[in-house]
Amino acid sequence: MLKNDHLESWDRENFFHPSTHLAEFARGVTPQRIITSAEGCHIQDRDGNRLLDAFAGLYCVNVGYGRQEIAEAIAAQAKELAYYHSYVGHGTEASITLAKMILDRAPDHMSKVYFGLGGSDANETNVKLIWYYNNILGRPEKKKIISRWRGYHGSGLVTGSLTGLELFHKKFDLPLAQVVHTEAPYYFRRDNLEQSEAEFVAHCVAELEALIAREGADTIAAFIGEPVLGTGGIVPPPAGYWAAIQEVLERHDILLVADEVVTGFGRLGTMFGSEHYGMKPDLITIAKGLTSAYAPLSGSIVSEKMWAVLERGTDENGPIGHGWTYSAHPIGAAAGVANLKLLDDLKLIQNAGETGAYLNAAMAEALGAHAHVGEVRGEGMLCAVEFVKAREGRVYFDASEKVGPQIAAALLAEGVIARAMPQGDILGFAPPFCLTRQEADEVVGKTAKAVKSVLG
Ligand SMILES: Cc1ncc(COP(=O)(O)O)c(C=O)c1O
Repeated sequence: MLKNDHLESWDRENFFHPSTHLAEFARGVTPQRIITSAEGCHIQDRDGNRLLDAFAGLYCVNVGYGRQEIAEAIAAQAKELAYYHSYVGHGTEASITLAKMILDRAPDHMSKVYFGLGGSDANETNVKLIWYYNNILGRPEKKKIISRWRGYHGSGLVTGSLTGLELFHKKFDLPLAQVVHTEAPYYFRRDNLEQSEAEFVAHCVAELEALIAREGADTIAAFIGEPVLGTGGIVPPPAGYWAAIQEVLERHDILLVADEVVTGFGRLGTMFGSEHYGMKPDLITIAKGLTSAYAPLSGSIVSEKMWAVLERGTDENGPIGHGWTYSAHPIGAAAGVANLKLLDDLKLIQNAGETGAYLNAAMAEALGAHAHVGEVRGEGMLCAVEFVKAREGRVYFDASEKVGPQIAAALLAEGVIARAMPQGDILGFAPPFCLTRQEADEVVGKTAKAVKSVLG
């Protein structure tokens, strides 16, 4: 193993870390952690700490760390054919096989998969396909995309615009004009505390209708949403939300993009979140769980309805002018094939549903009645605890108190990684699907201890 005494200083001097306070990191205020190895649900750092990773990296290492089957598939692919492109009808056994495996698992009305590298570029592809689609249909004005506040769809130019979190817009001149935002289906944070869940859904629908009326349905191309809000706070939608939203979209001929970068391939205990919530999307974004992050790979799954128009477009205009050098990279594709096989062979999606439900119930039991816990919520292998200054009247802590980050740090000191979500005092959990009940108990027990140490 590489041992280099300069690594810490090289890191601070040379490495531009994403989503990091750059000045504090350079000054040595932000702690650094250099990861050396991992196995199952645990990672190990250079200082010898072994940590239970209850966020699976960035909710992506779904099958758990150290899976030799995937490592070997990657190695075999690299030795046989590390790269060839997929332009103009070229392909590899791995990429063609993976496309078939994805379509076999996707909702029946989906037709083809375009491969990219990460969730951001897949959503970038989606927006281009949507614009192309409406141009082919002779509707050049129908181009705006509706996203939700607190949605997360990436951090590129258009995808950072789709993302509805302040941090990703501030000082970047985003969002771009083609993106408009609507209410998040976040019942706990509703303005009107008197509203029932059903009334809140009706309110979200009314807000969407009002936005469409304001902008003009003939200017709106698509609506993008995560089946369960992820980075915006891990928030499952209230009952009936997706059915009610889809009714509006259909009436106004607005496409639906299901961003399943987090929920795709099992995190909710079902293959796709779309299936879980009865969504019928025109495009599905996939990344993370497609390879469990053993290699970068993403995809846009295109419906039959859109595909027919894309085909017509190329008959009229020639080959589609869209592609990346690394689209369908064989190493990513080989990782994807091995990963999807492993999910099936080890029944990991079933475990995500069952152990996820156990984790959520245990978390609610341990913390649901705490004076500073506003809500414990989750779905499948996703769980969140939201903290409040006072439950009565739902009073939030001031962001400057950094309650969420303090609790995440206290939990880390106990040996468990959870994520302080970026907006609000919310502790997020998204463990690998191989989490055992004993590990779930450890996560819950240590979380309760960390909460007690910070909030009493
Ligand atoms: C729902 C969703 N979409 C898109 C993305 C962007 O993916 P990437 O970071 O791979 O570009 C993420 C990343 O967390 C995500 O959670």
